[in-house]
Amino acid sequence: MPLARPVVLGNWKMNGLKADGLALVGRLAARAAHPSGTLGVFPPATLIGPVAQRLSASRILVGGQDCHQAESGAYTGSISAAMLADAGATAVLVGHSERRHGLGEDDALIKAKAEAALAQGLLVVLCIGETEAEYLAGERDLVLTRQLDHGLPEGATPENLVVAYEPVWAIGTGRTPSLDEISETHSRLRGLMAERLTGGAEVALLYGGSVKAENAADIMSLEAVDGALVGGASLDADGFWSIYTAGGGA
Ligand code: PGA
Repeated sequence: MPLARPVVLGNWKMNGLKADGLALVGRLAARAAHPSGTLGVFPPATLIGPVAQRLSASRILVGGQDCHQAESGAYTGSISAAMLADAGATAVLVGHSERRHGLGEDDALIKAKAEAALAQGLLVVLCIGETEAEYLAGERDLVLTRQLDHGLPEGATPENLVVAYEPVWAIGTGRTPSLDEISETHSRLRGLMAERLTGGAEVALLYGGSVKAENAADIMSLEAVDGALVGGASLDADGFWSIYTAGGGA
């Protein structure tokens, strides 16, 4: 079955020590241990084990923020998809702009990571998005098509893949595209997914980039938007919960 909507995922990035992280997920689980939609948190790798344990009686999913493309080996500092799964994760982000642009990850590497994650049974959240220069040059659609063409993993289905559209210039800036732009981009992405995968039109398409409690309802009420990938605003349990409910989750 495709994922229950809305799909609202919180990317904590490099934030959170054990006490705060556990308190945050404790508050979320108190709101809804069995959410009607798909609610997930992506804590730093150090907290995946404790957070997964804290949420073991709930259906809130726990994911990693990245994985290495190899199964194991001499890759100091890296974490494999099997290690994420072993720690209790059931999902992983790949291709986040902070890794594409901050750490130079390209589409081929991102695809390899996604395939490594699928091989371990993880739900892959493939992040795509144009930079501000690409947006201003009118290259958004070109960039997104290229990122899908080169980054979509083999073996992806609506059950094991989520695509998050995150304009790089909207991440952490308080700026977002207009609702018309988000709607147009997501409709286009829906078509691209349908052409590329069997059942591709069913793949959950999230919007990410400065999603807050104040704009979440408008963004997630757009027909082609199935949910949100939330960064900064996911660090507060009440705020994150209001985003989820603004998208229709209970
Ligand atoms: P933001 O981050 O919500 O803080 O803009 C989104 C993301 O990076 O996934």
